[in-house]
Amino acid sequence: MKVLAINASPNKGRGNTALILNPFLDGMKTAGAEVELVYTNDLDIKFCRGCLNCLYSRDGKCPQNDDMQKLYPKLREADIWVFGSPVHADGVTGPLMNLMSRTVSFLYPNMEVRNNRCRYPLRAGVKSGKVVLVSNSGFWEIEHFNPLVEHIKSYCANVSREFVGALLRPHGPALSGLIKFNWPVFSSVLYKDVLEAAKKAGYQLMKEGKISPKVLEKISRSLLPRAAYVAIANRDFKKRLEKSNPKLKK
Ligand SMILES: Cc1cc2nc3c(=O)[nH]c(=O)nc-3n(C[C@H](O)[C@H](O)[C@H](O)COP(=O)(O)O)c2cc1C
Repeated sequence: MKVLAINASPNKGRGNTALILNPFLDGMKTAGAEVELVYTNDLDIKFCRGCLNCLYSRDGKCPQNDDMQKLYPKLREADIWVFGSPVHADGVTGPLMNLMSRTVSFLYPNMEVRNNRCRYPLRAGVKSGKVVLVSNSGFWEIEHFNPLVEHIKSYCANVSREFVGALLRPHGPALSGLIKFNWPVFSSVLYKDVLEAAKKAGYQLMKEGKISPKVLEKISRSLLPRAAYVAIANRDFKKRLEKSNPKLKK
């Protein structure tokens, strides 16, 4: 099983998205998957120009000569795509959006109706595999992922891939805060179960073809009450504001 993981966080491996994405990929590797991880921040992925030359060309080639040309064969051949992205403006980050738009080149221009929706079929040589979403939000409530999850689900239907689930980590900065706090005696109660659940999710997906709802719930579980999160966040914002503008300090 070939897995292509795309971490689209501007904070790359140091970010909050990676805190869940990396153990998830470890779980997949433990179960025998061949995993490749790429960071969109290391790549030049331009936005789709909308020319549709790819759709009308014989081989589906996009005329833009950027790093998508390296990614296309990897995407075509991977059984599983793992999209890792923080929530940005209620959606995925810009580079991941660019990448998704550019996969229109995988489609063949012969409109058909599937499940009562107009779609295009995949071109020959493009695998129809699975997609998993790993996302992280700054706000406390899990509902902030709703638009993004719906988007990825619809996108999967367009590219004939099965959406197999989402590892969602609301109030993600709290997880990195707890890890940095480095209080080993309490780490198992504070956050370790969340990281272990992410690893289990990867293992389960490879062995059973799906992730159990219980494991997904564990990954998303509340790390602290909302009022405490809001108070800590605002204390931190105040400190940073004062640091960048000492006049604000009373
Ligand atoms: C430009 C920008 C837009 C954001 N928009 C949202 C948002 O709409 N909803 C939300 O809950 N968090 C939002 N966030 C917060 C990030 O999702 C959150 O801090 C996340 O943990 C960052 O992950 P990373 O460290 O992997 O980049 C936004 C952050 C940035 C920089």
